[in-house]
Amino acid sequence: MPDTHVVILAAGQGTRMKSRLPKVLHPVAGRPMIEHVLRTARSIAPATITVIVGHQADAIRARLAGHIDLRFAVQEPQLGTAHALQQAEAALSGRTGTLVMLSGDVPLLSSATLRRLVETHHAAGAAATVITAMVERPYGYGRIVRAGGRIVRIVEERDASPAERQIREINSGIYAFDLAPLWEALRGIASKNAQGEFYLTDLVGIYHRRKLPVETLVLESVHETRGINSRSELAEVSRIVRQTKNEELMAAGVTIIDPATTYIEQDVVVGPDTVIHPGVILEGQTKVGSACEIHAHVRIVDSELADRVTVKNFCLIVGTHVADGASIGPFAHLRPETMVGEGARIGNFVELKKTSLGPGSKANHLAYLGDATIGAQVNVGAGTITCNYDGARKHPTVIEDGAFIGSDTQLIAPVRIGKGAYVAAGSSITEDVPAGALGVARSRQTNVEGWVERKKAVKA
Ligand code: UD1
Ligand code: CA
Repeated sequence: MPDTHVVILAAGQGTRMKSRLPKVLHPVAGRPMIEHVLRTARSIAPATITVIVGHQADAIRARLAGHIDLRFAVQEPQLGTAHALQQAEAALSGRTGTLVMLSGDVPLLSSATLRRLVETHHAAGAAATVITAMVERPYGYGRIVRAGGRIVRIVEERDASPAERQIREINSGIYAFDLAPLWEALRGIASKNAQGEFYLTDLVGIYHRRKLPVETLVLESVHETRGINSRSELAEVSRIVRQTKNEELMAAGVTIIDPATTYIEQDVVVGPDTVIHPGVILEGQTKVGSACEIHAHVRIVDSELADRVTVKNFCLIVGTHVADGASIGPFAHLRPETMVGEGARIGNFVELKKTSLGPGSKANHLAYLGDATIGAQVNVGAGTITCNYDGARKHPTVIEDGAFIGSDTQLIAPVRIGKGAYVAAGSSITEDVPAGALGVARSRQTNVEGWVERKKAVKA
């Protein structure tokens, strides 16, 4: 849309959040609120996007630094939504066409609705078009006042009469404006209201008096217009985002046993016939294949699970790649740069960091494997530890195919266990064990015959 410009308001303090973090940076389902708004803005391919910042402007700019095409305008001090929009004038002066105004704190608006807004606005040849919604609980929103069916003004909650407070049609704070009359009209807005602010909503009354056409787009979906002003609204909106994601996944063939307690972030991909138990959290760029089973209370971050992978209860998996048919947990901790091979098994209280465990290998109980390259069909016994850190640097451990590491072994890195080699239980291995050899590194056992009897005699 070449003659469409988007302005996003994000300068307010968000007092009701009672937070040191700017409101629009609070995450909604894992992503800053304003990122949701930007994603929607981009969907209509506008010519420019300008973000109005003020309160903690630097923090917001820094967080959005990845969006190189954004323009920023500073509103200082913050005197209300009309004053905020005025700050975009310099960036857009001389432009004609349509200005779409979005609020940084209304993250659920869909791309389809935004397109409908622009279409409705153009079709009506309106000077302004307002997105509105009929809601059960209008408290806190501006109300749409109509006369003879037409919108005539918007009144804020605090300035509304008792009768106006009964109106259930609310202002979403999202508008399309014709750029031609806009800047001049904004200058006509006063701050004579309960908050002493310059309200953008007053523009509707001004246009009505000037007989400039104002249109509305009334939404059926009440969720899309939800604004976030408090922590409680943040939680509600986040819940809606999660619910939508869960529904999408279920429609695509994923079993989610209890959607209410399943937290799956937006970018996560899950294949069909995968079963997700209650309390599972899937974050970031996680991809789960098909026919996997993820048991209760597992958190997976930025990881890839191939097909038919089982993750038993209470695992934390971060930055890990798990191949087909592997089984993880319960109570396993897989840390970044870990690879688990096809059909491999990781059992309880096992931690892997920057380690690859080859196909069919097992580490079933109580182990720490860090900076290790472990081949295929290796058995890592209970209590095995790679001592990879000497207090200053990390060192690698290599365990070749088919090796058998007896229980309670320390592998003091750098060290290599050759193909098919055995390490005796209880060994502290400081030197390489050649292929096919048995490495034993512990003191020999001695039995002192008759010791107990002698001890008893001394006591008596
Ligand atoms: C606003 C609307 C209200 C609407 C509601 C929808 C006005 C006067 N009221 O109320 O009719 O129902 O949104 O969610 O417009 N902002 C600035 N600079 C400022 C003040 C605010 O950039 O000086 C930004 C805020 O950061 C926020 C947005 O504008 O992103 C809305 O401001 P907020 O104070 O939350 O307005 P509401 O009281 O929710
Ligand atoms: Ca708001």
